[in-house]
Amino acid sequence: MTGSTLLGMGHYVPPRVVTNNDLAGLMETTDEWITQRTGIKERHWVDGNVGASELAEIASRGALAEAGLTPQDIDLILFATLSPDLNFPGSGCLLQARLGIPGVPAMDIRNQCTGFLYGLKTADAYIRSGMARHVLLVGAEVHSTGIDVTTRGRDVAVLFGDGAGAAIVGPTEGAARVIDSELHADGRFAEILMVEAPASRMNPRLSPQMLEEGRHYPKMDGRSVFKHAVERLPEVIHSVLKKNGYALSDVDVLVPHQANLRINEMVTRQLGFAPEKVVNNIQKYGNTTAASIPIALHEAVLDGRVKKGQLVLLAGFGAGLTWGATLVRW
Ligand code: UT7
Repeated sequence: MTGSTLLGMGHYVPPRVVTNNDLAGLMETTDEWITQRTGIKERHWVDGNVGASELAEIASRGALAEAGLTPQDIDLILFATLSPDLNFPGSGCLLQARLGIPGVPAMDIRNQCTGFLYGLKTADAYIRSGMARHVLLVGAEVHSTGIDVTTRGRDVAVLFGDGAGAAIVGPTEGAARVIDSELHADGRFAEILMVEAPASRMNPRLSPQMLEEGRHYPKMDGRSVFKHAVERLPEVIHSVLKKNGYALSDVDVLVPHQANLRINEMVTRQLGFAPEKVVNNIQKYGNTTAASIPIALHEAVLDGRVKKGQLVLLAGFGAGLTWGATLVRW
């Protein structure tokens, strides 16, 4: 039966490295606080006017090269981001123009840290149904231009990094395939992690007073997000495994979203899963939201931690709230 598989992947982070000590020069924070609470040591931030589609193009071209394909082979673009280049149109359209493939449908996915998993399920459905052959799925974020880098915004500012991860998803009759995905959302908790302005429900969408109050910056109830993450992630992991007749011991590699090393350590402990089988790279990149799972997965493929034939489990949690888990036979 036709399924979908990841034919090639690519990732990119901008060259500028921002260390915890660099941030300590901008706001009241310390390397010790950031390292102890999050595991993050540094992140990459863009210089100047660089939008998500620019990072996405580099990651996408890498994924195409790895798959041995050209932009002309793509028949659908899925672009997962919470930091689109523009309020509208979507970054998928901008990426399509950058790749020089006018006419190819392009759609944005607004599911934050779970965006790549929502996109992978969508790509899988398109391919299984025969509606598409080669889907370019990319998660890309530029957070650095949208965070408050003063002490007022320090709880959020220290967490986020810029980057992009991409995959070419295509058809397969073989064993290597996306096995199943389980996705969830709970909008009752939308306001525990959000950017409220500019947005349609605000009239005016942005005012000098709102700017002064910093209402255009992300706001987060960190403790609440943490608590939800460590409950929902083990739940959805157990559920997708059970539904597909697997035990946790069948999983060779777990690639979780990179929001906080402490969240991933707690989830790993709660599951009783071997920590050496978990891919974590938040130390280098911070939280790159929709880009975090594909960047971590691609790094693990490149350095040999993810090998052909293995059972790989992807898991994500973030604003929305949204969360999910995807099983892939590599
Ligand atoms: O993809 C999903 C995105 N988000 C997440 O997954 C975030 C989940 N939550 C977290 O990771 C944690 O809640 C944080 C790392 C954000 C915060 O850790 P916490 O242990 O929950 O700290 P807290 O917010 O309770 O703050 C503790 C103290 C506060 O000071 P007081 O009130 O105790 O005097 C904060 O003002 O730490 C202070 N603080 C900081 N101090 C130094 C907050 N941010 C910073 C900072 N540097 N950057």
